[in-house]
Amino acid sequence: MKNYFCKENRCVVLFLLVLGYSCQPKEKAIGLLAENAIVVSAHPLASKVGKDIIQEGGNAVDAAIAVQMALAVVYPQAGNIGGGGFMVIRESEGQYHSLDYREKAPLAASRDMYIDENGDALPEKSQNGHLASGVPGSVDGMVKAHEKLGSMEWAKLINPAIRLAEEGFALSENEAAYFTRASENLKKYSSVDPIQFTGKAWKAGDVFKQVQLANTLKLIRDKGRAGFYSGEVADYIIAEMERGGGIISLEDLEKYESTWREPLTGSYKDFNIITMGPPSSGGLIILQMLGIMENDQVSNQGESYAEYLHLKTEMERRIFADRAAFMADSDFYPVPVDELLDDSYLSQRFSNFDPQKATPSDLIMEGKILSMSEETTHFSIVDKEGNAVSCTTTLNGGMGSKVMVDGAGFLLNNEMDDFSIKPGFPNMFGVLGGEANKIEPEKRMLSSMTPTIIEKNNELFMVVGTPGGSTIPTSVFQVVVNVIEFGMGMQEAINEKRFHSQWKPDQISFEKDFERENILESLRNKGHELSERNGIGRVDAILVLEDGIMEGGADPRGMDAASGY
Ligand code: GLY
Repeated sequence: MKNYFCKENRCVVLFLLVLGYSCQPKEKAIGLLAENAIVVSAHPLASKVGKDIIQEGGNAVDAAIAVQMALAVVYPQAGNIGGGGFMVIRESEGQYHSLDYREKAPLAASRDMYIDENGDALPEKSQNGHLASGVPGSVDGMVKAHEKLGSMEWAKLINPAIRLAEEGFALSENEAAYFTRASENLKKYSSVDPIQFTGKAWKAGDVFKQVQLANTLKLIRDKGRAGFYSGEVADYIIAEMERGGGIISLEDLEKYESTWREPLTGSYKDFNIITMGPPSSGGLIILQMLGIMENDQVSNQGESYAEYLHLKTEMERRIFADRAAFMADSDFYPVPVDELLDDSYLSQRFSNFDPQKATPSDLIMEGKILSMSEETTHFSIVDKEGNAVSCTTTLNGGMGSKVMVDGAGFLLNNEMDDFSIKPGFPNMFGVLGGEANKIEPEKRMLSSMTPTIIEKNNELFMVVGTPGGSTIPTSVFQVVVNVIEFGMGMQEAINEKRFHSQWKPDQISFEKDFERENILESLRNKGHELSERNGIGRVDAILVLEDGIMEGGADPRGMDAASGY
């Protein structure tokens, strides 16, 4: 096992990356290389939990369940048992699965629940506090994944998370600062002081313990689904709802079911893409973009890079307009998946593309057919048999609704904001929606999460995904293109600066310290408005190299880490 930056100056490059410097590294960055198995996640302790499970004989799905639970403890801003997610799985023999454990709108939810008497949208209510939560799906999702594909005893998958919650873990400086800041928000929206966060001003090295959460995890370990959706924990959730004016009922909890769905698949050149379909928009967006680009030659060299970024932006404008009009929970709305991916539709959609000039977003409507806190989290896993899991899970915003369930010690999501709370009103990621994604009882809110697995010549090639709200599909797209088209390795592709656009707002965001001013100038000359911002996404991914060794790439924008052997 090696984790290094090649050739000389590796310490300098590593030092710069650790500090978050974003200059283009002179040397090619290489992630963790491993022969047997790799787990890459947002937290080193969670990655180690996953790797240990595989070393003890578990498979990639066992590891995914253990990582999901561990992240709920060590990465509570997005790791969760009070949220939901999507898991895309490729078994070593080539069978595909996708699991939808996205939250659902409560039975008492209604289309106009976030609109006041003057017709104004109330984003404060869809984004924070008790009314912002959808019915959590993560625990049911993990139980379903285990029933179908798990190989290890359930309790063994939950025990590492319980240990981390009970014994605690030492905070890094960044974590200590984040938790101290976050506790102010949690105090504001939780109905009872979330004491585990607010007990002190955290500093580096403090041991963070979560006694209530450890008890909740023990109930989940001992009773499975019933340990969360009924009994003590369900009673804590209902008491929390009653104190804070939320609407999740016992019936909502009892009725919640995660569901296996047909994964969305497509091809790009020699590659098969296996990704998440509705209620995620992410897989559709990726396949639409790759479909439009299939016949183009793109390059990251010289001026050609500006041409590629212009092309990418123009695709994103059109596709995010489609997202607003046509994408939603397909159990409630007939998402025209085949039409959106049809070659002639895509070429007609792109027929007014001008290689020299930006198309103002106001001139773009959806095609004719017949989020800034971006705290979601992603992990990628390949086990020693070659089974692969790509899993993205979320509370939506950082710390979700900021409501901690008193007694049970976990945070609830604020996923209701991913619905279109009023036609044409942007959600926290600035994306628009309409009728398709309106609120309805038991409906799942549209997502951008894009857990994806790629095959080359029918063999496992890449496992990839990221958090980042509406920037998720565009970050995944860029990393895939960096590898497939620009010949980069996994870590190098992840380290590369990212760009994002999404129809409205009509602008390209680019990561700070992008050093190729001539590229930015070219984009301005084509009429694009540019806006600099902090890191876009945190991609954690695995690439199978030609010799069968795997390279795990962990995003240096966070404290993400790969663990393998
Ligand atoms: N909550 C972010 C997403 O699902 O897209």
